[in-house]
Amino acid sequence: MNAVPSSVLDIAPVIPVVVLDDAEQAVPLARALVAGGLRAVEITLRTPAAVDAIRAVAAEVPEAVVGAGTVLRAADVERAAEAGARFLVSPGWTPALVDAMQKSNLPFLPGVSTASEVVGLLERGVTEMKFFPAEAAGGVPYLKALVSPFPQVRFCPTGGMTAAGAPAYLRLPNVACVGGSWMLPADAVGARDWGRVEKLAAEAAALSS
Ligand code: 3PG
Repeated sequence: MNAVPSSVLDIAPVIPVVVLDDAEQAVPLARALVAGGLRAVEITLRTPAAVDAIRAVAAEVPEAVVGAGTVLRAADVERAAEAGARFLVSPGWTPALVDAMQKSNLPFLPGVSTASEVVGLLERGVTEMKFFPAEAAGGVPYLKALVSPFPQVRFCPTGGMTAAGAPAYLRLPNVACVGGSWMLPADAVGARDWGRVEKLAAEAAALSS
């Protein structure tokens, strides 16, 4: 198993966001992402298959750093950790959720879309955050406006991200990486076209500012 760099934000320029209905797709999908160069893989807890998918990737794809996304409550933290998730992502946060994430000792990215939410996380010692939903919440201009008041914060903008739009985010000094699902188009995943997923992942992995 590869070690997680000091931050999950530093593994690759893009964290793929995975929504899976069939846990059996998880291993070949994760292998395709890793082969393309995207080692951090966020599997969202939005489907009944998610926990089994995380468990399978944790057990069978040691080169991947598998995490759980759409973590909404303390119980999600527990089931994700028990399945082998190595990081946690949420679209938002509450004090109870951040308490549970901190208690898990796993790296975590709570979600924010306002300056007040950033301040709330700073009060709790959290300086790495998901910015969600990035495009709808103000996109590049909004994040740029957060650089000056919050120079210590690093963001992973996610939500509405595309291969064409990502570089403008990656150029911002407060963006460490971006998240998105564009390298996992439904038709490719549905057809188990892992070669296409790998190619899209490789293009995403090559993105930089
Ligand atoms: C998420 O949970 O981060 C989003 O669903 C991913 O957003 P995208 O599908 O618009 O890339």
